[in-house]
Amino acid sequence: MFALRPEVPATVEVFVDGAPVRVPEGASAAAAVLLAGAAAIRETPISGAPRLPYCMMGACFDCLAEIDGVANRQACLVPAAPGMRIARQRGARVAFEA
Ligand code: FES
Repeated sequence: MFALRPEVPATVEVFVDGAPVRVPEGASAAAAVLLAGAAAIRETPISGAPRLPYCMMGACFDCLAEIDGVANRQACLVPAAPGMRIARQRGARVAFEA
């Protein structure tokens, strides 16, 4: 379970898989995912197992997500910004082709 502390106002609106979520200023994109109550933010490339942010400090990589159209970002290391779009990453990221 993940919940806001009532004394901290949630003033930044982001979108998690298209749904609006308000988080406190300074919160990470991973915190927004947890506050949204998402079942997963990524699926593993081999088995498709669902994953959610776990360590919240850049060590486990279970928070990889597509953020503002850029895949494979560690959501726990990205501060939430107004209007940010966080989307579930399915399987391996698609390589960028120039
Ligand atoms: S939650 Fe572990 S690296 Fe982001």
